Amino acid sequence: MIMNPDTRHASSKMTAILAAFLILIMTGPAAAAGDEDQPGESEYTKGVKQCMTCHKEGKERPAHEIFFTEMGITGDPDSPFAEGNHDCEACHGPASQHLKKQPDGSRLPPPVTFDDKTPVAEQNAMCMNCHNDSGRFHWPGSAHNLENNSCVDCHDLHTPNDPVLSLETQPEVCYQCHKEQRAQFLRQSRHPVQTPSATMSHVGLMSCTDCHNPHGGAGPANLIRNTVNEQCYDCHPMAPIMKTC
Ligand code: HEC
Ligand code: HEC
Ligand code: HEC
Ligand code: HEC
Ligand code: HEC
Ligand code: HEC
Ligand code: HEC
Repeated sequence: MIMNPDTRHASSKMTAILAAFLILIMTGPAAAAGDEDQPGESEYTKGVKQCMTCHKEGKERPAHEIFFTEMGITGDPDSPFAEGNHDCEACHGPASQHLKKQPDGSRLPPPVTFDDKTPVAEQNAMCMNCHNDSGRFHWPGSAHNLENNSCVDCHDLHTPNDPVLSLETQPEVCYQCHKEQRAQFLRQSRHPVQTPSATMSHVGLMSCTDCHNPHGGAGPANLIRNTVNEQCYDCHPMAPIMKTC
């Protein structure tokens, strides 16, 4: 993405203001649930047990695999499935309408589905209710957010092994949109990052997130460090001979 220095400066300032504002208004999903612009408690169902009567293993649209992920650890007070956090509806929104069949026998979807029925900003806001932490401090001004990418463009939540979280399968998720980088990592001289046709034994040792934070960063090109050089020094320390020059 191309940004002139003024826009970049303005957007990082915006990030800081936005972050401060969000921290002020959001202390967690449980605390937010009582606010005026929040849905009334009656729009929520009785929770996960009710959903699972139709979405358990073996049914048409099974959803049980979310219990095999980090988010299914109910002992964590911040988990969607912890007391007061509304279970499935922490992400899908208050879904009492979805339980009733319409007169024509059809069923309204829950208010938040993670496809084109729900605007991207609304989808991401559900996730940021809980994940507005240091890992995503630069998200509001990041290329992916500004390009209207959703969290779910990269993340798969109803699976125990989200491919983007593991070193070997992550690049394939990124290559879906970054064809140029796919081609670059097929060259002779490149970093040992996985590609579909990779046969060299050391590929897969590194991944995109050894250098990039896909949630945004203060430096150029979503790098983890503030400058390109600092990024390289993470793994390639300056040779002694250069220091004595
Ligand atoms: C009485 C059965 C039933 C219950 C209870 C139920 N669902 Fe569903 N749900 C369905 C059926 C059937 C579909 C898919 C069919 C359709 O498209 O109408 C579906 C689809 C969905 C979808 C996908 C919608 C889409 O259009 O992409 C989501 C998300 C969902 N349900 C979440 C929930 C949640 C959350 C709960 C609990 C609050 C719940 N469901 C309870 C029957 C049920
Ligand atoms: C942490 C957020 C989150 C929670 C909690 C959650 N979901 Fe989902 N759900 C998603 C996302 C995101 C998708 C889109 C597909 C994906 O990423 O795997 C989705 C998709 C679905 C679908 C559509 C799947 C399909 O085959 O089209 C159904 C049905 C569904 N969820 C039901 C549920 C039920 C029932 C629960 C509670 C047991 C639940 N979800 C809990 C985020 C969540
Ligand atoms: C009700 C709070 C809540 C909501 C809403 C929520 N999460 Fe989470 N999420 C958690 C908790 C708690 C964990 C486990 C601890 C951690 O990693 O922060 C977690 C973990 C994760 C992880 C790491 C999983 C792993 O295996 O390490 C990802 C990725 C994630 N969430 C993405 C999302 C996305 C995308 C959404 C929106 C669709 C979302 N979350 C919505 C609470 C939530
Ligand atoms: C461009 C792809 C991409 C997008 C978009 C994206 N993520 Fe991630 N996310 C990743 C990758 C890759 C990792 C693993 C990071 C690592 O291993 O260093 C990750 C890790 C995480 C984690 C676990 C580690 C942590 O930072 O706490 C959470 C939680 C998370 N993402 C939430 C989100 C949320 C919420 C959104 C949307 C606001 C989002 N992600 C958007 C690619 C993405
Ligand atoms: C759904 C499409 C999509 C996916 C998946 C995706 N990206 Fe992107 N990414 C974009 C778009 C659009 C841009 C902005 C235009 C550009 O620079 O190509 C972008 C920009 C970037 C940039 C440049 C940021 C800047 O400020 O110049 C980096 C670095 C990046 N992505 C890394 C990743 C990584 C790493 C992954 C996988 C973890 C990933 N992307 C997954 C769509 C995607
Ligand atoms: C060894 C570190 C490193 C690794 C690994 C890496 N990148 Fe990069 N990437 C960079 C640097 C440094 C830049 C910035 C180049 C510049 O600004 O001159 C960059 C730039 C980018 C850009 C922006 C390009 C542009 O023209 O604006 C994208 C998109 C990108 N990387 C995606 C990826 C993806 C996808 C992966 C994994 C498949 C990946 N990168 C792995 C270091 C890395
Ligand atoms: C996360 C660690 C890491 C980072 C960060 C990193 N590298 Fe590397 N670099 C490696 C590894 C691992 C190799 C491969 C060594 C091998 O193949 O034996 C490598 C190899 C190289 C090579 C030799 C490639 C070849 O095929 O001969 C060059 C040149 C290089 N890196 C430049 C850079 C530059 C420039 C940066 C900063 C943009 C950078 N590296 C950042 C880990 C890293």
